[in-house]
Amino acid sequence: MKKLVVLTGAGMSAESGISTFRDSNGLWENHRVEDVASPEGWYKDMEMVLDFYNQRRAQLIDCTPNAGHQLLAELEADFDVQIVTQNVDNLHERAGSSNVLHLHGELMKARSTGSGGEVYDITHSQPIIKKGDLCPKGFQLRPHIVWFGEAVPEIENAIRIVQRAEILVIIGTSLKVYPAASLMNYAPQGCLIYLIDPNEISNLPSSITVIRKGASEGILELKTKYLKQ
Ligand code: APR
Repeated sequence: MKKLVVLTGAGMSAESGISTFRDSNGLWENHRVEDVASPEGWYKDMEMVLDFYNQRRAQLIDCTPNAGHQLLAELEADFDVQIVTQNVDNLHERAGSSNVLHLHGELMKARSTGSGGEVYDITHSQPIIKKGDLCPKGFQLRPHIVWFGEAVPEIENAIRIVQRAEILVIIGTSLKVYPAASLMNYAPQGCLIYLIDPNEISNLPSSITVIRKGASEGILELKTKYLKQ
């Protein structure tokens, strides 16, 4: 089976009701991104940051995967599919995708602020982290999210995945945040690259086939028009 690599961003989950980051004046769910997604924001007001992600988690539990997530999962019948997502939601997994690498962390996980950085699952029955919630070694737990200014530990794995792609599909990302935005540059020669987004993405190489549609409609077009076996 051909190796099909899918890079997804916030637009992938927009049709499930989760807001994108840069479609609303730089505000994310009424917060400045730097207040809720940076180590500085965490040190300034830990309780506000914890509460923000507790709300995001509650929202995620109420959301369901959209038709686009389902179509990507179905592609596994015909392709060796690997998803690399910038999204911290678990909608790809809930739609049935088997291979999902999260570049920017996962909302349903907590991480120790101790030097070990151990990661723990968060249950649907208790989807909150509070100030004073500690890891077994006694360190405060924080959201398992890669914030601005922090290292992206999965980037090397993501590069290796893209380097093996025969088909690369980019969906719903403004390609403004690095290093994620540079991943497509690692696609090997001859790799077919498609980009699905309802809005114009500037400075794209002319070799990329752009499908200017929302995720669900765009993936359906990809499947029926471009990926016919
Ligand atoms: N289907 C597909 N794409 C859509 C849809 C839709 N229904 N609606 C909007 N989009 C597109 C927008 O046109 C935009 O290009 O999704 C993209 C969303 O871009 P951003 O909000 O910048 O999100 P993303 O690229 O995922 O952000 C990258 O920034 O804040 C950080 O860590 C965070 O992972 C995030 C990273």
